[in-house]
Amino acid sequence: MIIDNLIGYQVLDSRGRPTVAVTITLVDGQVHTARVPSGASTGAHEAKELRDQDGLGVLQACKNINEVIAPKLIGAECDLTHADEILKKLDPSSDHHVLGANATLAVSLAVTKASAGAKGISMARLFQPKGPLLIPMPMVNILSGGAHANRTMDIQDILVLPNGASSFNEAITWVRAIRENAAKRGAKIGPAHLIADEGGLGLAFTSIDAACEFVTNSIEEVGLQVGSQVSLALDIASTQFFENGKYSLPTIGREFTSSQFVSFMAKLVNEHPIISIEDPLAEDDWAAWAEFTSQVPDSLQILGDDLFTTNHTRLDRGIAESSANAILIKANQNGLVTDTHHVLQTAQAAGFRTVVSARSGETEDSWLADLATGWRAEQIKVGSTHGADRTAKWNRLLELEAIEQTEFAKPF
Ligand code: PGA
Ligand code: ZN
Repeated sequence: MIIDNLIGYQVLDSRGRPTVAVTITLVDGQVHTARVPSGASTGAHEAKELRDQDGLGVLQACKNINEVIAPKLIGAECDLTHADEILKKLDPSSDHHVLGANATLAVSLAVTKASAGAKGISMARLFQPKGPLLIPMPMVNILSGGAHANRTMDIQDILVLPNGASSFNEAITWVRAIRENAAKRGAKIGPAHLIADEGGLGLAFTSIDAACEFVTNSIEEVGLQVGSQVSLALDIASTQFFENGKYSLPTIGREFTSSQFVSFMAKLVNEHPIISIEDPLAEDDWAAWAEFTSQVPDSLQILGDDLFTTNHTRLDRGIAESSANAILIKANQNGLVTDTHHVLQTAQAAGFRTVVSARSGETEDSWLADLATGWRAEQIKVGSTHGADRTAKWNRLLELEAIEQTEFAKPF
């Protein structure tokens, strides 16, 4: 189907900041819109969003869409591979800084949606036309700190993984009960608590152990078995507090060298029911990643976010050096849908687990749920169960499970 029109414009994300939307009209009159997210704890090696010089606006990125990209795509077949090839020709830089990764991804996603629409199928089915769809296991935020919660804790997230659930519906039912119980318990600690950027609770904890115990108790109190039914996952986001070769944690008041921090992280995962840890080391501290991987049990999921930034070259290095055994996949770290998919496929082929992830600044769009499902990622991380920007993705997965032939991922 031919693209009749393509328009880029500025909209707002869940933090109330400008972001890019693209609306495509097909010649049969169908209209499809995609909106891009934006991170706060961004890695140095991510594709580059284009922000206007006088603030956070994305008007220049929209101008690039309307004046540079649209003339090449209007009148052409609506096809993702073709569109991404044109985008690469228009901006051959590896980090998409010329047009802006927010511009390229918005176009790439809108073309994905419109291509599925043209075929009368979902985006999940565009990538997997036949057979049961794999609904990913949710990794859900309960406590937030770092850049998402005014640094109430040094680390960024304490999440839960409902590893014993037998369906996505059951997984979400368990997790929402835990989140509600945690909020009740949190209200006893302090009269008001912050709801963080991803809908998690911004409660102040001066030790990571105390925060882990709080979440473990919140699981037990709703009658769920810690370990066999629900386990903990951490996102340390340690690049955020790595400075001049040291890990400095202001809230707990300690500073660590790389190898001291490796031991500190290894002790933490030993002492709590943690089955996944993200960014335990800083984005360029490669030797420490390999040291950590060799020290902890193989069963622990070691997840690279800022380490890999959904970048093929960095993933290849991580595979070669056994730096981790799982990758976080964020489309806007990469800038194109096809290349993001390619990174995910390379990780899967290397035996890495894959966790498709939202950003802390999101929109009501739910394409992430379809991409994760169509790409057969085993896990998805979207934030908490609060806020329409978060529930849009959970609700889309619940919808897919209700209406499609599916199976539920069992990564653990
Ligand atoms: P970000 O956080 O979107 O602010 O980068 C998400 C994460 O670190 O996983
Ligand atoms: Zn992260």
